[in-house]
Amino acid sequence: MKIGIIVHSYTGNTYEVAKKLEEKLKGAGKDVEIQRVKMVGGDEPKGKDIEFENPPEVDKYDALIFGSPVHAFSLAVAMRTYLEQIPSLQDKKIALFVTKNLRFEWTGGTRAIGQMKKICQAKGGMIFGTGIVVWNKQRNKKIAELAEEFSRLF
Ligand SMILES: Cc1cc2nc3c(=O)[nH]c(=O)nc-3n(C[C@H](O)[C@H](O)[C@H](O)COP(=O)(O)O)c2cc1C
Repeated sequence: MKIGIIVHSYTGNTYEVAKKLEEKLKGAGKDVEIQRVKMVGGDEPKGKDIEFENPPEVDKYDALIFGSPVHAFSLAVAMRTYLEQIPSLQDKKIALFVTKNLRFEWTGGTRAIGQMKKICQAKGGMIFGTGIVVWNKQRNKKIAELAEEFSRLF
């Protein structure tokens, strides 16, 4: 089973989680790679006119982990736009995570995960796991738990 970890990351936190997930999954003997969703002109948040440098293709993966920051109490627009342009996720096993820095999950985490879920399911994807990483002092514990959970999923 080939696993793709596809993330958007503006300041690097989400990518850092992706690296730790990759390390854990590789350690468990999985065939895994990270792809980063990058916008033409830089990754600072913008609301419209989004073009991707090289939007990662999902066809070659059996399982996917999508990761994104929370922006303005929602899924980052870059990730939303990227997910929306994927032609199909039929029968793919999917796990989702977001990173955020406000303490409570209701400050966008649950909403962002819900948005990702909805788009993926509308394209035929099957959601197996989700996680919210709050960027505080306890984050490494949360990331380790998430890595453990996701490595058991696929
Ligand atoms: C424009 C912008 C809006 C943000 N809005 C939220 C928010 O609504 N809720 C929250 O918890 N964090 C918010 N954050 C914090 C980021 O979600 C958090 O720092 C995240 O880990 C960044 O991930 P990245 O380094 O991969 O870009 C915001 C950050 C930026 C830059």
